[in-house]
Amino acid sequence: MKEQLAKIRSEALAAMETAQSAAELETLRVQYLGKKGELTAVLKQMGRLSPEERPAMGQLANEVRAALEAALETTGKKLEAAALEARMKAEAVDVTIPGKPHKIGHKHPMYIALDEIKDIFIGMGFTVLDGPEVELATYNFDKLNAEEGHPSRDWSDTFYFDQDSRVMLRSQTSPMQVRAMETMELPIRIIAPGRVYRKDEVDATHSPMFHQVEGMVIDKGITMADLKGTLNTVMEQLYGKGTVTRFRPHHFPFTEPSCEMDVQCHKCGGKGCPTCKGEGWIEVLGAGMIHPNVLRMAGIDPNVYSGWAFGMGLERMAMRSFKIADLRLIFENDVRFLEQF
Ligand code: DAH
Repeated sequence: MKEQLAKIRSEALAAMETAQSAAELETLRVQYLGKKGELTAVLKQMGRLSPEERPAMGQLANEVRAALEAALETTGKKLEAAALEARMKAEAVDVTIPGKPHKIGHKHPMYIALDEIKDIFIGMGFTVLDGPEVELATYNFDKLNAEEGHPSRDWSDTFYFDQDSRVMLRSQTSPMQVRAMETMELPIRIIAPGRVYRKDEVDATHSPMFHQVEGMVIDKGITMADLKGTLNTVMEQLYGKGTVTRFRPHHFPFTEPSCEMDVQCHKCGGKGCPTCKGEGWIEVLGAGMIHPNVLRMAGIDPNVYSGWAFGMGLERMAMRSFKIADLRLIFENDVRFLEQF
């Protein structure tokens, strides 16, 4: 029996110490210490020993059991630690691996152009206003001195919401002039960019929705010289020092006198080329001195205050800056086109 115990001890310990997994270790535990295990089988034979032999053998058997249990525990802990280590290695995050780049978009070319324009005006002390696209005809027309019967009020040009032609999609950003006059303290220096709507068929230069930037200054002693000086400075900032401009007489109901501003073609220097369609000049905006009627309707005394205003088409500015030939490209939002800017 002594030999049997020694054999079990050495075999079991060898097997347990080299076990490769918790499952294997458990199998060994059952094999030796389980109810039908090898050590248990030996212990069951104790009864056959003489009473003199029994205590020594019992003690030996207990030692073997203790040794096996100790080995099970040690190896078990070792395996557990190794498993943890392996898991940590497998799950470890390598912070030195570069991340997956996020594909972020970029600004639309028209908004790049708008931001440049905004920056210039903000630098000159103007405030940027935002206003409603669904507008009252009162603001879009009446308070801008365009009375009933004015051709721009025609149903064929304007999107109205009601039979009485009172609510409409604004056809220009000019109503923002009135909204500013009615809500802001004088003096006023504002620009108001935004969408406008007209019943136009879509083609290379027309769209039923487009963008304008309105601008307005009201103070004491404002003259046409301020209009020209400010707008010339803006054009020099946009198109470079020495940019040549001209002001042509025009008519708008809300300004008197009214004008249109042209910039000399930067491509041909005024000789005429495809960029300026042979004209030598490119029209950039409409402007003028705010009509006394408009000031009066907004509660501003035209004998004390005067002002100038302008309105320009934003798409045109962007098309010129980025040499875009067709207006439709600006609205189609084809990423292959937009990515170029
Ligand atoms: N609202 C005009 C248009 O849509 C543009 C314009 C002209 C705006 C003269 C102005 C201005 O403020 O003074 O054609």
